[in-house]
Amino acid sequence: MTSVALLRQITDYANRADPYPLYAELRKTPVVRDEDGPYLVSTYWEIHHLLHDPRVSSDIRNLNPEAAAMTPAQGEDPNLPPTFLKLDPPEHDRLRRLTMRPFGPPHTPRRVYEMRGELGEIVSGLIDGFQGKQQIDLVDDFSYPFPVSVICRLLGIPREDEPRFHAWADTLAASIDPVRGSAEDQEAQLQTVRQARADLAAYLAGLIEERSRSPRDDMLSAMATGHGPDGQMSPVEMVSTAALLLIAGHETTVNLITNGMLTLLRNPDVLQRLRDDPDLAVPLVEELLRFEPPVQLLPQKTTLADIDIAGTTIPKGASLWLVLASGNRDPQRFLDPDRFIPDRPDNQHLGFSSGVHNCFGAPLARLEAQFALTELVRRLDNPRLVQDPPPYRQNAVLRGPRHLGITFDGLK
Ligand code: HEM
Repeated sequence: MTSVALLRQITDYANRADPYPLYAELRKTPVVRDEDGPYLVSTYWEIHHLLHDPRVSSDIRNLNPEAAAMTPAQGEDPNLPPTFLKLDPPEHDRLRRLTMRPFGPPHTPRRVYEMRGELGEIVSGLIDGFQGKQQIDLVDDFSYPFPVSVICRLLGIPREDEPRFHAWADTLAASIDPVRGSAEDQEAQLQTVRQARADLAAYLAGLIEERSRSPRDDMLSAMATGHGPDGQMSPVEMVSTAALLLIAGHETTVNLITNGMLTLLRNPDVLQRLRDDPDLAVPLVEELLRFEPPVQLLPQKTTLADIDIAGTTIPKGASLWLVLASGNRDPQRFLDPDRFIPDRPDNQHLGFSSGVHNCFGAPLARLEAQFALTELVRRLDNPRLVQDPPPYRQNAVLRGPRHLGITFDGLK
């Protein structure tokens, strides 16, 4: 099978509910390419190797024209400079360090740890809202509002502006998907994305300006007023970094929580174990990130030199698709990879990627999912799935159910 045929199958909605047999097929040829398509890399060690190779660039300015055309909504934006997600060292490192600073000393997510109380409050408030109902849509009633509220609190967005953030986050997260319809649909999508981006940027610029004049105890104020060995971010860098934090942590966390409940409801013995032992949430969330990763693949990396890997030479300037979700099911790396083992030992999954671009928000995302799942199983009495498999959203990269109907007998 050619990589283009596989690529089409990956993005084909018919495979969304269960793409894993396709990935197993893909792994038979760890690095595969068709005439003018990207190189697909599907095995754990090869993906890991490339994520740590400085000859693999994340800078969108290095994308070849075919790759850039596949995700136009992600291209250059005259209003915002590329975020550090789309930059290589040393620019990447400088901006990432500057963003890390408000969280506390390097690699110490102090601010995230301090947010535990607030996370608990948001989770309890959302679950209290289920009172009197016997059925919910977990996505709309819980998984969606939760991470946006958290990132808004972290950044310091006023509560009354949160609904606008939800709308921007939805539009921009959807634009990450390389699947596209007719030319007209594409143009319309691009227009909507541009508008959302411009509105969000204008809103953030105003708020950053205000916080630089009268700082508060929040991340935007810290970014606007902080000075350190790396100097300070420029105002546009601040805007694009704040937008990155919103977008990168939105759909991803929604899907982790929703995939999490779906997996627990499919495995009632594991659900009961979590109820009996909330500490299980820590390894269980790691296993979820391996078993049902919200980011299935990374489609926008480019080689800066010829790279020999798994018997193939990927030439300089080639576009790479690193299929993280396939690496996570690689039997060469994980024992019994298609089984969900909540306390799996040695679980160095690729759910948060690896190397210099490993997920910046991982400590927050972990904590959010741990809180959410523990509280949901504790408080929902006898929860059951309405439909299995549930309806999935179109997005093949950020994969997850669009709705997850759950019925239950009451609230604890
Ligand atoms: C990067 C996954 C939540 C902020 C990444 C990458 C992955 C990922 C796979 C690497 C992207 C690449 O190399 O192209 C996830 C998952 C999440 C999650 C699965 C939730 C379950 C969050 C949250 C935030 C966040 C909550 C913000 C608070 C970022 C940022 C980067 C990133 C800023 C860029 C890091 C860099 O380029 O150095 N994430 N993420 N993520 N993530 Fe997350």
